[in-house]
Amino acid sequence: MRYTDEVIEEVREKNDIVDVISQYVRLQRKGSSYFGLCPFHNEKSPSFSVSPDKQMFYCFGCGKGGNVFTFLMEYENYTFQESIRFLADRAGVKLPEEDTSREAQARSDRRSRLLEINKKAAEFYFRRLRTPGGEVGMNYLKGRGLSDETIRGFGLGYSGKYSGDLYKFLKQQGYPDALMKDSGLFSYDEKRGFTDKFWNRVMFPIMDANSRVIGFGGRVMGDAKPKYLNSPETEIFDKSRNLYGLNVARRSRRKNLIICEGYMDVIAMHQAGWTNAVASLGTALTSQQCALLNRFTKEVLVIYDMDGAGTKAALRAIPMLREAGLNTKVVNLRPHKDPDEFIRTEGPEAFEKRLEEAENSFLFVVRSLENDYNMNDPGERSAFFHEVSKKLLELPDEIERTSYVEAVASRYRIDSELLTRQINKEALRGVGRTEASVPKKMLSRSQIKEENKDKEQKLMLTWLTEWPQLIPRMKDLLSPEDFTNAMYREVAELAWVQAEKTGKISPAVILNHFEDSESQTEAASLFNTHILLDGDEEKRKAFFDVYCKMKRKSLDTRSKTMDLTDMQGFMAVMDERRKLDQLIAAGLPEDLFRF
Ligand code: UTP
Ligand code: MN
Repeated sequence: MRYTDEVIEEVREKNDIVDVISQYVRLQRKGSSYFGLCPFHNEKSPSFSVSPDKQMFYCFGCGKGGNVFTFLMEYENYTFQESIRFLADRAGVKLPEEDTSREAQARSDRRSRLLEINKKAAEFYFRRLRTPGGEVGMNYLKGRGLSDETIRGFGLGYSGKYSGDLYKFLKQQGYPDALMKDSGLFSYDEKRGFTDKFWNRVMFPIMDANSRVIGFGGRVMGDAKPKYLNSPETEIFDKSRNLYGLNVARRSRRKNLIICEGYMDVIAMHQAGWTNAVASLGTALTSQQCALLNRFTKEVLVIYDMDGAGTKAALRAIPMLREAGLNTKVVNLRPHKDPDEFIRTEGPEAFEKRLEEAENSFLFVVRSLENDYNMNDPGERSAFFHEVSKKLLELPDEIERTSYVEAVASRYRIDSELLTRQINKEALRGVGRTEASVPKKMLSRSQIKEENKDKEQKLMLTWLTEWPQLIPRMKDLLSPEDFTNAMYREVAELAWVQAEKTGKISPAVILNHFEDSESQTEAASLFNTHILLDGDEEKRKAFFDVYCKMKRKSLDTRSKTMDLTDMQGFMAVMDERRKLDQLIAAGLPEDLFRF
């Protein structure tokens, strides 16, 4: 849903940046600005500043900066849309309805009613746990080492001894049977009517990334089967698109996310201080979940159970995580079974150590492969290397591949050149492809981003949004056309219009012009980078340098992509080239780029 520029400005104006950030960071007034400890990097003395006049924040330590929307995108990992909705809600601004067709309205009403029922149920179980009847549940949870704080934090509960209590409770609250049927909380048959799906179990409410209860897992308090009963998928509960614990983990300040198998593992890790742990929901990891992880982190630590099933699940998850652009490592907890058991017996320091020793996922895959071969048998040993070559070949990045060739060669004491030749042979064999044409498609998103060949364009835009007064002054030197990267050009066009109209640039209004959250995040990063330079002269030199580089590249691109019959365009590029050469020859001009 796109909101109008007016609505966005209204939301921004009604949310003073100092008020909003004060909810996350303790700020103190110093002169015309406020200062606090930066939430985006570790520091002891405050270098994070918030300016009420500019309605922007900026950290002198790590260089992060932006406005109230980008702060929330960064801090809460919200998308731009989410940050608008959050702030609109906060300030009581009514946003226009997304889709006002009757059918869509009915659907969204139903969804909110189902969310409501699930929330009511969670509260019911939560209270039950604290009644005399819930003592068995409480004893069980305490017996597993959970503190009061943890039990409360995860909203754990207990479903009563008798099946029917929840139904009665919700019925009293006036919910119609039709809705109850679709809630996933009950079984229904003609003869017996409604029965509670969960009874005599400790209850784990499952929340989406925005902390709304969407379903439950219920555990028996002994060895009976099934150990866990889970809500079925419903209109609001999609098991392939949610992760247990993500509502908390998204705010964790750790550099990675931990993916594990079980609810109890997540809870044990959070309690021990690893609030960055999440788990899938009783099913194998899906590609949607990988994409979800990718929204919040670049690195994932996999901790699956230390048994055959866990290893198999890890081997399945690794290529999916790679596809999603995530850097992946695998944690070894042997001789213990899972994080819960490990932490309880070995303690948090030992756990920390195991995380630090996590093995790169590729080497983990190779090591698992090794188990299938008798490495003392020459024939099996060479079969193993054939397999490894194939795996190495699947690595898209040359540099990465080379470094793994070295790693494998040294670990298995084989000549690295021999291994490289083997890989090349393997490449030629594979469906007649040549090595050069092999794995391009697998370049992950983060790798593409890193390759970023348009970095001067990005830098230029960052500067211009910070000093929009330069835009009119550079009229003869730079136009949006010079931004050959489509996304940057779009930003430039919007910035030019705004600068001309108001002399200012509003990041939020620019973000609003992008449809998908990925482009919005990319655009937001333009307003989130600051250039740390001392003194105006240094600034001017750097700016001039970036300008020349970017202009040169842009003219090259333009002449390469130009229509050969476009005589006028050709002349124009020639002309601009000449001007650029002259400018460079003359050196940094006195009157240009004054800030
Ligand atoms: P585990 O058996 O490892 O459970 O299954 P756990 O969370 O570690 O719990 P404890 O420590 O034994 O009490 C891992 C996950 O698989 C799903 C659940 O999501 C569980 O958290 N599962 C397992 C089920 O859905 N049903 C089951 O019967 C068992
Ligand atoms: Mn387990």
